[in-house]
Amino acid sequence: MSEAAAPPASAHVVPPAWATDRRGVLAALPRRVRRLLERWVVCRGNKVAYLRRLGARIGEQTAILCRVGDFGSEPWLIEIGSRVSIAAGVVFVTHDGASRVIRDRIPGGSPYGNCFAPIRVRDNSVVGLRAILMPGVTIGPDSIVGAGSLVTRSIPPGTVACGTPARVVSTVEQYVESYRTHMISGLSSDRVELRRQLTRRFWGEER
Ligand SMILES: CC(C)(COP(=O)(O)OP(=O)(O)OC[C@H]1O[C@@H](n2cnc3c(N)ncnc32)[C@H](O)[C@@H]1OP(=O)(O)O)[C@@H](O)C(=O)NCCC(=O)NCCS
Repeated sequence: MSEAAAPPASAHVVPPAWATDRRGVLAALPRRVRRLLERWVVCRGNKVAYLRRLGARIGEQTAILCRVGDFGSEPWLIEIGSRVSIAAGVVFVTHDGASRVIRDRIPGGSPYGNCFAPIRVRDNSVVGLRAILMPGVTIGPDSIVGAGSLVTRSIPPGTVACGTPARVVSTVEQYVESYRTHMISGLSSDRVELRRQLTRRFWGEER
């Protein structure tokens, strides 16, 4: 799907009544405690379920390795498609907090600022370790963002982009060609065997 559709009902964790009734038991708890209960009890530690509950749209078979807090203060402005990988340390920025400097000059401005924009990561894309995604960007589908990149503009479908600011460096088709030239063939899908294979190859002994 190019726009992340709402996940099927079966993908949601159905919260018990005491958890959804804002006038009930939970409402009386401090926000932090309520958040912890929602995450670990209602969503049973399932990060994707919890993020969906916070309002993010997330497709199927998507791996979220960054922290929930890295979805920022407007997780409901984030759409992630299916078969996407979001690596550890990736940060989503959906608002321009810099405007706090000029807030006194904007009559009638919102206390939260007035510049927000959604972030979309479309199907079958990978966002590398510690990338920062700025407001309004769309990545993919079928695109790769390199580790440590600062994404300030959208990344077109089927491309590899990296750097600060991120720029397209190749197409995914070119990346496939280059990958084939330095990939290691015949690796095991069993983690223990994989360790044996790689330590023998790189250290000359099993470690
Ligand atoms: C972006 C990426 C996919 C490119 O892979 P690649 O095509 O094999 O790249 P190469 O190593 O051939 O590098 C090509 C050029 O891009 C540069 N480059 C590669 N990755 C970069 C990055 N993350 N940021 C900035 N520049 C990068 C290289 O320095 C090289 O530049 P040069 O031609 O001037 O020497 C890869 O480097 C990357 O960042 N992968 C994600 C890693 C990751 O996050 N892993 C955890 C996932 S859970």
